[in-house]
Amino acid sequence: MTEASKERVLVVGATGFLGPALVEELCFAGFHVVCGVRNLEKAARELGFQDVELLKVNLNTDLDPELWYSRLQEFKIDRIVNNVGIATSFGGQSLENVNVHAPIALFEAMQRFVAEKRNTTKHSDKTEVIQISTTGVDWDDCSSFSYPSSKLQMDNFLSGMTGLSHIIIRPNVIYEPERGHLLLERIARMPVNFYVGHAQIQPIHCREIAIGVARLLQKPSTIQSSILRAVGPVPMTWEEVFDVSAKALGKDYSWACRVPLRMAQGVTMLIQMLPAKVLQRLGILSKMDPETIVMMTKGSTGDNAEWLQATDMKAIRLDACYQAYADGSDVYAGFIKAVRDSSC
Ligand SMILES: NC(=O)c1ccc[n+]([C@@H]2O[C@H](COP(=O)([O-])OP(=O)(O)OC[C@H]3O[C@@H](n4cnc5c(N)ncnc54)[C@H](OP(=O)(O)O)[C@@H]3O)[C@@H](O)[C@H]2O)c1
Repeated sequence: MTEASKERVLVVGATGFLGPALVEELCFAGFHVVCGVRNLEKAARELGFQDVELLKVNLNTDLDPELWYSRLQEFKIDRIVNNVGIATSFGGQSLENVNVHAPIALFEAMQRFVAEKRNTTKHSDKTEVIQISTTGVDWDDCSSFSYPSSKLQMDNFLSGMTGLSHIIIRPNVIYEPERGHLLLERIARMPVNFYVGHAQIQPIHCREIAIGVARLLQKPSTIQSSILRAVGPVPMTWEEVFDVSAKALGKDYSWACRVPLRMAQGVTMLIQMLPAKVLQRLGILSKMDPETIVMMTKGSTGDNAEWLQATDMKAIRLDACYQAYADGSDVYAGFIKAVRDSSC
């Protein structure tokens, strides 16, 4: 495929944890990727893939559909993946702007852009927009938490849009060795399994989402549901998540200790003050706030059948992932390649 004939996907929020995996898998799948990023230096470090372009964006301030429309025109965008999402207002960001108002401006611009293209080119039967949401929108008391309620507001807006074929993906907790917000392989080194709450989650591997997104964009948009819960195959408590990953890495905790919610919240306040190096050593890469800790105790489980069917994916098990990781980088790379090359 020549560069000019490739379809052009704008990934907004291309840096960070899931973003680079999305960009890489879209490149593997034959798309030309335009990476919407707010920090060009960070993007240059994290997105060293061939044939990607960078576009500086800031969802905290880019609230005008006209601005997005001109970008879609300039970069000749065919599809969009909106991966931006913030769980807290760290860094003085407005959660409403970043999670809701700016994506609405972007999707309104895309709606107009697509409508105008349809007047001149053959109608495409492919998905035009993918929105990365969260399973937290399913909680009965979702409205009590600013992060999932902002995602739900966005999902509802997109669901009501006409003339824009879209899929909303709702991931559970996302993990990947050496990356992500919690480094399970570092946490596994601790002598004590510290966990909060007994609720179950279904952690999903970062690559399972990224490969799934690439497949959804490759297929005609004939799937039954435009909302897909991207959850891992096994419901587990946080205690089990730490325990299973530690065992797969050949380690065992001496004992387990449930940390009371209040104490965990106090620790997160202290964690906010720690330097990045100390956080890295503890296996934590994100600044959390007390509300994030409450969300971690809430849990969320459900069926992944629709997700697997829509993406033709085989689910990645947490224990299998960490076993492959423990066997070395070549084995782990082969493990991921097998997922990429496989289908159900
Ligand atoms: N991680 C999980 O367990 C999990 C679970 C469920 C759903 N999700 C959703 O999955 C998506 C990716 O999550 P993640 O864990 O990969 O998060 P992440 O590492 O924090 O990445 C979020 C992305 O949003 C970008 N971003 C933040 N503020 C922005 C702004 N003002 N303008 C432009 N870009 C901005 C970040 O840019 P920088 O790199 O410059 O910060 C980054 O590219 C999010 O929508 C999140 O809500 C994540």
